[in-house]
Amino acid sequence: MNILVTGGAGYVGSVIVEELTHAGYQVTVLDNLSNGHRAAVTPAARLVVADLADRARLAPLLREQRIEAVVHMAGSILVPESMRQPDRYYRNNVINGLHLVEAMLAANVRLLVFSSTAGVYGEPARTPLAETQSLAPVSVYGETKVTFERALGWFARTSGLRSISLRYFNAAGASTRLGEAHHPETHLIPLVLQVPLGQRPAVQVFGTDYPTPDGTAIRDYIHVVDLAQAHVLALQALAAGRPAAAAYNVGTGTGASVREVVAAVRSVTGNPLPVIEQPARPGDPAVLVADSARLTADLGWRPRYASLEAIVASAWEWHRHHPHGYAE
Ligand SMILES: NC(=O)c1ccc[n+]([C@@H]2O[C@H](COP(=O)([O-])OP(=O)(O)OC[C@H]3O[C@@H](n4cnc5c(N)ncnc54)[C@H](O)[C@@H]3O)[C@@H](O)[C@H]2O)c1
Repeated sequence: MNILVTGGAGYVGSVIVEELTHAGYQVTVLDNLSNGHRAAVTPAARLVVADLADRARLAPLLREQRIEAVVHMAGSILVPESMRQPDRYYRNNVINGLHLVEAMLAANVRLLVFSSTAGVYGEPARTPLAETQSLAPVSVYGETKVTFERALGWFARTSGLRSISLRYFNAAGASTRLGEAHHPETHLIPLVLQVPLGQRPAVQVFGTDYPTPDGTAIRDYIHVVDLAQAHVLALQALAAGRPAAAAYNVGTGTGASVREVVAAVRSVTGNPLPVIEQPARPGDPAVLVADSARLTADLGWRPRYASLEAIVASAWEWHRHHPHGYAE
């Protein structure tokens, strides 16, 4: 099957492309390289450097490559930036996404897996978070993901588009070849690893008086290869016409606090890791942990990397060998 992966040169996308090619799919990556890396695209895939804003290019590309399904990962991903530049987030995450759907319908491509986020829920009413909880984002970023998910629901009714939105919790870890190299980096594990790499003197911990056992915020870290597998399963379900829900959470169901992440990095790297405590940041919930029972029941998904140490160890292995990321 021929698959287009938008954003396939990015962190999560590159690992999905790797997993898809291993599973025998023919993959075309569309990425504008604004935040992705040419070197992160496995040689088994074809890279087309293009922007989703370039509307006229999309339908011809889908036709030329005989695309049968799309994994849509391209987007703008920084919550604080989305609060400063909401227009940019609506344009890239909603309007550019609509360009893609428009092109898919024109080229008669009707299967789509979309990268959504736990940020669609906002402050959780209960934890772990199931898909039944209300969508109440507290950032422009989260709102743009909800808006696009809802649009997909309407295209399903009006145009026969069949899609699955995967709501990721905190993607983390690395495959043997591919890891996390965002500029700027905002994710906890790569930031903490900058200390043993000698690139940062200490770890900043934001919020030490949350109502959690050690006072720091708890998140659900999901290994990027397990996350990629969820996309393979979603594509298989769509292609086989199996009944599936419109949206699934993807997380392990186990939370780790910031202090637990720091402890795991200490144990994996042997670095003492000095910590600087800072006040909590506005809009950062105390606990975000997924209930992914629906994904397991419907699509048979099970994470293989169960422990935080295993996730951190895979990230460390990659960063140790790529201290400057892809260094392009
Ligand atoms: N990393 C996480 O923990 C996480 C959590 C929840 C959701 N997500 C979602 O997963 C997706 C991928 O996240 P990531 O961490 O890999 O981010 P990333 O920034 O590494 O990847 C996004 C890719 O999209 C490309 N891109 C952006 N706008 C584009 C455009 N207009 N045209 C073409 N290419 C474009 C970038 O160059 C980049 O390679 C995003 O949609 C993000 O919202 C990520």
